[in-house]
Amino acid sequence: MSKPKQGFRYKELAGEIERKILDGTYRPGEKLLSIRKLHKQSNLSISTVYKAYVELETMGLVEARPKSGYFVNPVALQQLKVPVHKKQPPIPQKVSLSSMINSVVSAINNPGFLPLGNTAVDTELLPSKHFFRILKDLSLKDVKSMISYSLSEGDLELRRQLALRTLGVLKAITPEDIIITNGCTEAVALALLAISQPGDTIAIETPTNFSFLQLLKELGVLVMEVPTDPRHGVDIKELENVLRRNRIKACLFMPNFHNPLGAIMPNDNKRHLVRLLNRYEIPVIEDDISAELYFEEHRPIPLKAFDERDLVLTCSSFSKTLAAGLRIGWIIPGNRFKGKIQRLKAGMTVSTSTLNQYLVTRFLASGAYERHMRSLRTALKKQAIRTTLAVKEHFPPDTRLAVPRGGSFLWIQLNQKVDTVKVYRKALEHNISIIPGVVCSNSGQFKNYIQISYGAPFTPRMEQGIKTLGQLIFDAYDR
Ligand SMILES: Cc1ncc(COP(=O)(O)O)c(C=O)c1O
Repeated sequence: MSKPKQGFRYKELAGEIERKILDGTYRPGEKLLSIRKLHKQSNLSISTVYKAYVELETMGLVEARPKSGYFVNPVALQQLKVPVHKKQPPIPQKVSLSSMINSVVSAINNPGFLPLGNTAVDTELLPSKHFFRILKDLSLKDVKSMISYSLSEGDLELRRQLALRTLGVLKAITPEDIIITNGCTEAVALALLAISQPGDTIAIETPTNFSFLQLLKELGVLVMEVPTDPRHGVDIKELENVLRRNRIKACLFMPNFHNPLGAIMPNDNKRHLVRLLNRYEIPVIEDDISAELYFEEHRPIPLKAFDERDLVLTCSSFSKTLAAGLRIGWIIPGNRFKGKIQRLKAGMTVSTSTLNQYLVTRFLASGAYERHMRSLRTALKKQAIRTTLAVKEHFPPDTRLAVPRGGSFLWIQLNQKVDTVKVYRKALEHNISIIPGVVCSNSGQFKNYIQISYGAPFTPRMEQGIKTLGQLIFDAYDR
């Protein structure tokens, strides 16, 4: 491994101290080594050590006390316990959407609400100025070429840029292996349409992204909810039991920064899972939309990297990283399903918006993507820690949540006495949106869980919102 550039040493040092705070080596409230002592001990310059401490301070992990030095934040993140889920035996079920979903979606989209329920990344963190410049530089000739159809499989240069971005992640992906779609949603829908018929059973994780439940209902399929761990993703043993006893047509999983859990499957689990599904010849549709929002060193790899039977269909989009409204997503379907998916895409939407593909292609080709992603990841990580600290401080002490390793939201377990549908309704009265756990399941599970987002900058208004939410949760104990 090459040494980090001088300018990034402080980030590396901050990361090392952060890990020691989160794993409990440093205790809450403990004084850090003085800047001078750490400079001597580490051989790093005074300014590098100072910048590392300031970085930790902006994350909220340490605090500076005048004339005394830097101290670990006394609110202890390492004492947080990971949520636990009671397992329910999986059975195939028709999708019966929670009656709450419409209300939840309209609250998420209400611009007057504090967006704790909005899992999208705030536009403040997205490269709107860069898109504005690209639009301003368009010539009439460019515009003329953009008001006609694009190729049904998508613009070749965009697919080439995407193929280049799979280097080191997936082997031998060419532009011909990729189909551009209207967001990740269309990619998932095309995959389901290509593989399943109404009445088939699809294995999904529980909890799951509630918009999957909406889609699966419209497709008329049954769902089998497989218990999923907030740290390690889908329970492979449970899945194996399900496969042994049922005819499963396909799986729909989110192995990297699962929505709503934030779980990330370890590579060994991914390998094991794909091997199992390959053995049963069952296709798996993976939603990889949040994989690039990682807070550690490397991008987590998709299930497709382990696929030996051409049975993994990888779906993603730029909705979490660049611009949800441009609706640019893609699918890497593999050769088995590519022809069918291409025909479905052509038959249903002809092609994806030419102008929107152009904007994203120009952005990728400019080389700005990596820089943008570095700052987006840094901002999200700070927001994640700030939001987690605020939850720890303002929610009841028996609250459970896993400190996220990426993504843009927290999955929070509250005391069993708390009905989060009631908390959700009360929160709306305070103009705060949250996602109550019940909408993330087809079987009414997760009544005492909520999902909240840290996709927007952590402001005093945000902190006040979390404080108010904490109070509503305390009040719910007495009802
Ligand atoms: C896991 C997951 N998949 C898909 C989507 C929808 O993606 P798109 O806007 O690209 O259709 C979302 C949006 O929040 C999501 O969280």
